[in-house]
Amino acid sequence: MLHGTLWLLLLLPLRLPGTQSHRGATSPRQEAEEQSPWPGVQRLQEQLKTVGSLSRRYWASFSCTVWPDHCEDQEAPTPPLDWSLPLWGRRALDSFTKWFCRFQDCCNSGGDCRITNNFTGLESDLRLRLHGQHLASKLVLRAVRGYLETPEVHKALALSFHGWSGTGKNFVARMLAANLYRDGMRSDCVKMFISTFHFPHSKHVDMYKEELRWQMQETRLRCHQSMFIFDEAEKLHPGLLELLGPHLEPRVPKAQGVEPPRPFFLFLSNLGGSIISEKVLSLLKAGWSREEITMQHLETPLQAEIMQSADSGFGSSRLVKENLIDFFVPFLPLEYYHVWLCVRDAFLSQELPYTEEALDEIAKMMTYVPEEERRFSSQGCKSISQRINLFLP
Ligand SMILES: *[C@@H]1O[C@H](CO)[C@@H](O)[C@H](O)[C@H]1NC(C)=O
Repeated sequence: MLHGTLWLLLLLPLRLPGTQSHRGATSPRQEAEEQSPWPGVQRLQEQLKTVGSLSRRYWASFSCTVWPDHCEDQEAPTPPLDWSLPLWGRRALDSFTKWFCRFQDCCNSGGDCRITNNFTGLESDLRLRLHGQHLASKLVLRAVRGYLETPEVHKALALSFHGWSGTGKNFVARMLAANLYRDGMRSDCVKMFISTFHFPHSKHVDMYKEELRWQMQETRLRCHQSMFIFDEAEKLHPGLLELLGPHLEPRVPKAQGVEPPRPFFLFLSNLGGSIISEKVLSLLKAGWSREEITMQHLETPLQAEIMQSADSGFGSSRLVKENLIDFFVPFLPLEYYHVWLCVRDAFLSQELPYTEEALDEIAKMMTYVPEEERRFSSQGCKSISQRINLFLP
């Protein structure tokens, strides 16, 4: 709800108390900022006026990307805008979030109340809502739980999700955010970057670097347990990958008794998707059941494929070469039955009635590959919820 409220507030002509009441102090402006949030808002409002509809458009498309359930009939985010305004708009929104937090009691009692670390919820989400990913499900739960339950950590936890689109990489990233943070993807401890959206033009890479550095620094200052999600990681510019290196390196432990920072890094990419599919297909054809497939079958070919991928900087970056990624998580290609379950979930989540025939029909609409076997959905469970709209009375 935060962003809805936010715009409402910004659109209202603000006549707020407290603005004038701090004059005469030694450092009036500073003190006013300390004690009263209003000047900040007024500045923000003025700035937003100058940016006007563009920042609004940016906000709409940004929030649609990050919180798809809040899109207003927008199929996909609008194409990336020119960078300078979005950069600016996001900073303004960040200041606003901070300000907003003062009233929301974001963090009152002792620990950081933004952090929930609900392993029960995570375990149940992975088991019930993620379909066809027995490996990813186990690996993610084990890695995350192990990391958060270890008293001394000397490194960020870096997970790299690999697989075709629609296999659940994004879904799992959101599940993590939802169960580890009170406000899920909207938490100010969670930042998501989508390469083609946030860093679209390589000629602006210096600006992106500055922005990314700033975002990471701010987030890590604010939250000892932060989460950075890089979607379309295969498209990350080498300059940005380089920038991430030091954040993933092991650190010298701080003094005893100080809560160590626990940053998470999630990289989502389709790198290695095809090798995973090939391997899975050959195992299935050889008579294995899907659930009998283990990490041993996939680990080596997957890593080799990632390192060899010529058209992406990810595999040749320090992150991979210097083993800064802790786990490479394979997402298997989905089969008919999994798609069927996704369709059912989509009906259930919208509280719509359905028949098994409708589920069959929608699941059959997906394209299945390879041509001979037609075993795997080429788009996984992507855009299922849009498809069910076609079946509504
Ligand atoms: C953890 O998640 C489960 C399942 O979503 C939920 O029922 C439970 O209330 C959550 N626990 C806490 C402490 O938030």
